[in-house]
Amino acid sequence: MNPFRTKSIEQSIADTDEPDHKLRKNLSAWDLTVFGVGVMIGTGIFVLTGQEAYRNAGPAIVISFLVAGVACGLAALCYAEFASTVPVAGSAYTFSYATLGEFIAWIIGWDLVLELALGAAVVSRGWSAYLQELFDLPTWLAGGDATPDFGAIAIVAGLTVLAVLGTKLSGRFTSVLVVVKVAVVLFVIIAGLLYVKASNLTPFVPESKPAEGGSGLDSTLLQSIFGIEPTAFGVYGIIAAASVVFFAFIGFDVVATSAEETRNPQRDMPRGILGSLLIVTVLYAAVSFVVTGMLKYSDERMNTAAPLAAAFDANGLDWASKLISVGAVAGLTTVILVLMLGQTRVLFAMSRDGLLPRGIAKVHPRFGTPYRITILTGAFVAALAGFVPLDELSKLVSIGTLFAFVVVSAGVLILRRTRPDLPRSFRVPVVPVVATLSVLACVWLMVNLSVETWLRFVIWMVLGVVVYFVYGAAHSRVGRRREGSVEG
Ligand code: ALA
Repeated sequence: MNPFRTKSIEQSIADTDEPDHKLRKNLSAWDLTVFGVGVMIGTGIFVLTGQEAYRNAGPAIVISFLVAGVACGLAALCYAEFASTVPVAGSAYTFSYATLGEFIAWIIGWDLVLELALGAAVVSRGWSAYLQELFDLPTWLAGGDATPDFGAIAIVAGLTVLAVLGTKLSGRFTSVLVVVKVAVVLFVIIAGLLYVKASNLTPFVPESKPAEGGSGLDSTLLQSIFGIEPTAFGVYGIIAAASVVFFAFIGFDVVATSAEETRNPQRDMPRGILGSLLIVTVLYAAVSFVVTGMLKYSDERMNTAAPLAAAFDANGLDWASKLISVGAVAGLTTVILVLMLGQTRVLFAMSRDGLLPRGIAKVHPRFGTPYRITILTGAFVAALAGFVPLDELSKLVSIGTLFAFVVVSAGVLILRRTRPDLPRSFRVPVVPVVATLSVLACVWLMVNLSVETWLRFVIWMVLGVVVYFVYGAAHSRVGRRREGSVEG
């Protein structure tokens, strides 16, 4: 057995034609852009903007968003190249299989559960809290001390049914909700501009000061390694905030998981990925500028679950906060849906390859969706969202995503060397420089996450290694083909 065996690109593409495991191809560049915007705009902008301005960056949170956006832009170029070269479901997983070998591919597939399933669970908690606030529902519905989060379970269950019924249908549903949320975000920017006060924006980069807490497991990996005293604000605060608001960009890579369902992936994938990233970066920078201009970053109300609404309340616009909650509920719905769809596509690819039981990858004869995996994913996410305290776990979503970005960027470099012959309709410009910068930027954001997050991440990954050697290594189809014993 060789855990570094690779699956050729040609084989990956050929596997997508198996009758029982074939996804329908009906997505366009526009669908992909809507998917991208749909999955990105969520908790990050609706919640973290205010919190991070208050805790770490002040009005310079705008710069934090731009820093995180640039890091994502570098990674997005790499994703665009590979998704246009290997248009097969499974995103980073499939790509690693072709470049870095089966073991790393498995590790990435396992890692993506953090981004996708855990991410969906974290966001559905937020959804439930906003819904409860919007309709003044009893608080226990959104999870009390002794009760599960019913709201989160309900939204996950509803979206699972939708995902089984069809990708195109989910796409239409997403489009409608994306319009609502983008309209609300534009409203925040345009209406909010009228209330921006220069005094709120000065000092733009507040002077750095010792951080409260921030010691032991809470301090960042970088600080612990170099024994740096944790500080908030100043230049370091801007970077620390960038690592946190990175969450707001999570999702553009999920667009790549739909490559196999795209009509013309070579042309449309790069457009969908880069287009949606550009749109949200501009919106995020504008929203954070306006919000910190409306309400002083040091105001306690910035540090709540609904800072955007608080900024309008503070200016006497109470009615606007309800409108923003509507936008948040609509916005978070699509985030959960697209993250879950991404998870099903990654698991689909893994089980088609035999690294997970093949039976679960069966496609529904009528709906053309991998229904068994979709239902399993829904049940897993609902259980996480309903019963597990997730506050502490949300940073695991970021570290998992960043790790995948690092591997994909490295993979682009490797594939250029090992398969220079492959047709690439989109090529990363000045590749060694841009792909290397992408690796460095993502590693930089990773080391700015806490030691505790790192420990959890390592535990999850070690668990994945065990599962691979217990199951996947022996059942891999690539492995069996090599031994000449694969059946159909
Ligand atoms: N980017 C998504 C959000 O901010 C995950 O909710």
